[in-house]
Amino acid sequence: MTLHLAQFASHHFRNLAHEPVTLHPRFNFFCGENGQGKTNLLEAIYYLFTLRPLRSVRPIDLLAWGESQASLSGDICGRIERTLSVQFGRQKRDIFLNGGPPLSLDDYFSELQIVAFTPEEIQLVRGSPTLRRRFLDRAVFNTDIRYLREVRQYLKLLDHRNALLKSSSPDRALLDVLAEQFAQAGARLIRRRVGLLESLRPHLRDAYYRIFPDLLIEIDVRYQSTLGSLPTLGEHPSTEVVVAYEQDIFARFLAQIQKIQSRELDRRMALIGPHLDDLEFSFAGRPFKQVASQGQTRALVLALKIAEISEIKARTGEHPLLLLDDVAGELDPRHSGMFFGFLEETHGQVLLSTTSLAYIQLPDIERYPCFTLVQGKIAPSPLGAEHSAQHQERE
Ligand SMILES: Nc1ncnc2c1ncn2[C@@H]1O[C@H](COP(=O)(O)OP(=O)(O)OP(=O)(O)O)[C@@H](O)[C@H]1O
Ligand SMILES: [Mg+2]
Repeated sequence: MTLHLAQFASHHFRNLAHEPVTLHPRFNFFCGENGQGKTNLLEAIYYLFTLRPLRSVRPIDLLAWGESQASLSGDICGRIERTLSVQFGRQKRDIFLNGGPPLSLDDYFSELQIVAFTPEEIQLVRGSPTLRRRFLDRAVFNTDIRYLREVRQYLKLLDHRNALLKSSSPDRALLDVLAEQFAQAGARLIRRRVGLLESLRPHLRDAYYRIFPDLLIEIDVRYQSTLGSLPTLGEHPSTEVVVAYEQDIFARFLAQIQKIQSRELDRRMALIGPHLDDLEFSFAGRPFKQVASQGQTRALVLALKIAEISEIKARTGEHPLLLLDDVAGELDPRHSGMFFGFLEETHGQVLLSTTSLAYIQLPDIERYPCFTLVQGKIAPSPLGAEHSAQHQERE
């Protein structure tokens, strides 16, 4: 059986009540009116798996009002069984794997990965580059958890270099040594991101055309580097090609730093590097954000998430857990039907929130549990009452 979250419980997490929820290995629907806690529930699960909030809030905003500590726990079942739990307060966070402290963060994060879609993520296409870098970094991390350490090392070198560039009379020899280490760590991140993007591209196109088969317009995504235009890496590069590519990026990076270092000294900060890079989506050769409609943009973000899932499956052999918050809102019924048809063919666990089941165009929806959320309380719906009522509504 695929790895899945079988049980989940929270304590003092936003408005969620404390009763544990038992989940189905495939689809689970969480229905409720606005403001009842659907997103809070998905956020709690996301936080348990990633130790990061789903929306851009501070971890202390996740505590229920008036409380100083929250806890979350979940049982993962399938090929292996493990229990993850986290307790956190204003200052401190403790994580547990099977009841004890894990050997490392990698140990905690390994095995089941998670991919989430929230309505705000339409900003992935239209909003700031930080969101796109975050998406890409998480997607690389989801396929190889060693990436977390590589990013941290790069950010440490970036801080170190920025501190030196800010100092009143920087030591030139140290600046040179640091530039080399910085370019080396940066070249690795760029190679990782470009590699992932090139494997994502065919999955992205496939997923997008499954939702919009009637719109055979070329969609594409490109890595935009502050180093200028970069060579491509190809879809399945050999190890030698990957090593040579990273060396090539390193040489370009170092040459660029040498070119602009005096400007960096004037501005007192690093002006190039993967921490400033971006992604550009295009639609028939034009920037996606300028020409695509709202629904097409939403479909692109959904397709990106599905592409990420396909890539995680290809690289790790496991289906990640998919969280879909209020997904059906902007797709018209026909395109929504195509999206759900596609989703049915993927095999992982899906947790989906909606204000009405009538939006969910999934065949055999009755086979799966539906929970109702009212003021943070999660209760199994009196099924099939909920389903049949919604089906009648649809007819
Ligand atoms: N820290 C907190 N402690 C307690 N309750 C909170 C906290 N933060 C938010 N809430 C409550 O959580 C509710 C919002 O929950 P959530 O965003 O999950 O709603 P939702 O069901 O997803 O609604 P929508 O359909 O509008 O997206 C609000 O009623 C809000 O008052
Ligand atoms: Mg919500």
